[in-house]
Amino acid sequence: MQQPWWSIYLLAIFMLGLDSKLVGQAFQPEFAEPLMNLTVPIGRDATFRCLVQNLGGYRVGWVKADTKAIQAIHVHVITNNHRVGVSHNGQTVWNLHIRNVQEEDRGQYMCQINTDPMKSQMGFLEVVIPPDFIPEETSGDIMVPEGGTAKVSCRARGMPEPRVLWRREDGADIVIRDPNGTKTKVAMYDKEVLTLTKISRSDMGAYLCIASNGVPPSVSKRISIKVHFHPVIQVPNQLVGAPQGTDVTIECYVESSPKSINYWVRDSNEMVISSNKYEVVNTVISSFESRMALTVRRLTSADVGGYRCVAKNSLGEVDSVIRLYEIPGPTVKNTSPANKREEYRYSTPIEGPDNQFGSADTSDDEDERDIGTYTTDRHSNSYRNENVTRNRTINYAPTTEQKLNNKVRKIINKFEIEKFGNNRCCVHSLFVINCVLSLGIIVVLDYT
Ligand SMILES: *[C@@H]1O[C@H](CO)[C@@H](O)[C@H](O)[C@H]1NC(C)=O
Ligand SMILES: *[C@@H]1O[C@H](CO)[C@@H](O)[C@H](O)[C@H]1NC(C)=O
Ligand SMILES: *[C@@H]1O[C@H](CO)[C@@H](O)[C@H](O)[C@H]1NC(C)=O
Ligand SMILES: *[C@@H]1O[C@H](CO)[C@@H](O)[C@H](O)[C@H]1NC(C)=O
Repeated sequence: MQQPWWSIYLLAIFMLGLDSKLVGQAFQPEFAEPLMNLTVPIGRDATFRCLVQNLGGYRVGWVKADTKAIQAIHVHVITNNHRVGVSHNGQTVWNLHIRNVQEEDRGQYMCQINTDPMKSQMGFLEVVIPPDFIPEETSGDIMVPEGGTAKVSCRARGMPEPRVLWRREDGADIVIRDPNGTKTKVAMYDKEVLTLTKISRSDMGAYLCIASNGVPPSVSKRISIKVHFHPVIQVPNQLVGAPQGTDVTIECYVESSPKSINYWVRDSNEMVISSNKYEVVNTVISSFESRMALTVRRLTSADVGGYRCVAKNSLGEVDSVIRLYEIPGPTVKNTSPANKREEYRYSTPIEGPDNQFGSADTSDDEDERDIGTYTTDRHSNSYRNENVTRNRTINYAPTTEQKLNNKVRKIINKFEIEKFGNNRCCVHSLFVINCVLSLGIIVVLDYT
């Protein structure tokens, strides 16, 4: 606060007047301890405490050193800043109070005693401000085509200068690709601008930028980065055979962003919808992956033929054909266990080729995950449908059970080795259900 020019004169006259009266006093006043430096968040109150011994008839005054503005003399507030006040405790403790501290209050404050020469000591008031985002310089959600560059920025102000860092909401690492092709994975990225070049679908997700400067509260902003690409379909089995009268499930795995519309079409171009005959189930695996499953109940010769799974989004459309055929076999009385097993199969992602379709994220850092090779790979796969490149693998009982057997073995081996020696008991809480189910399946398999 600026003081009127005459207030300084008043103070001088006032103090000199006192001074002349008290010349010759035996004890000179002394400061008992230095004035403390204060650090106060904006909006809070600050108190400087000046400890004086032997004040006698002298008086204590307060001056803001940078502006030379007199704050108070003795028990009187001089400044017209209504947030300033004084208090004292006896002749020793003299306080200067600043309520609801503002940025302009920052600076050196001087506690003076009107001796001749004047005695004074100084303390600094630091006003700190918690971080706050600058809206014009902070990004919102963005969408980028795969292979493109996503650039998001977050700038914050505060005192001291805030530090900005980025991390993924799901806790995964952030993948930074240099122009020369080097990839770096970091849990935190501490620059204001995050640039993701050659962005891949695995980079899709919510990113948090967090600004902090040691003054609570820190602030964070959630920015969603969406990566768009043409849908792709993977088909684990393109030829599926089953005996008459059994239920058979065929499946396609879709990757798409934005999310695709998924449906099944028969050779006759007739769309397949859930009914007594069919059960159509779409299961979300991740933000961009899903599984399409079609169960044909009580297979008859009329059901034999091609079933096309189709995925369509704003960037395009893809399909793949699965051929269903009839195999001679014992007329199975009841196949409901087979359906149950289907469900269990996908409830636990387990590493290994059996499950390569359900866990694209895990292969994220391998080079084939990069746009280019990755996409063409999957494309060629999805278009290879009419050309039978595989041996005639049958998705009915033998293969399914074979796969299950592998998985069951894996689980059990893991348990036996890691946890339980030779004890086949499944105790681990997370695995217990699947493990029990798997063991149940072994029993079923042993019977068949
Ligand atoms: C206050 O801060 C200044 C430097 O800004 C320092 O020289 C001084 O010793 C500090 N005072 C106290 C009491 O810590
Ligand atoms: C790639 O470029 C970065 C800087 O952009 C550099 O630090 C790094 O060493 C380079 N790596 C290779 C393999 O050239
Ligand atoms: C399968 O594809 C190969 C080349 O990939 C081709 O030579 C062959 O004729 C195709 N077979 C059929 C049945 O389309
Ligand atoms: C197909 O199976 C036969 C034997 O059943 C085997 O010799 C051949 O290598 C298999 N081909 C492929 C591509 O797996």
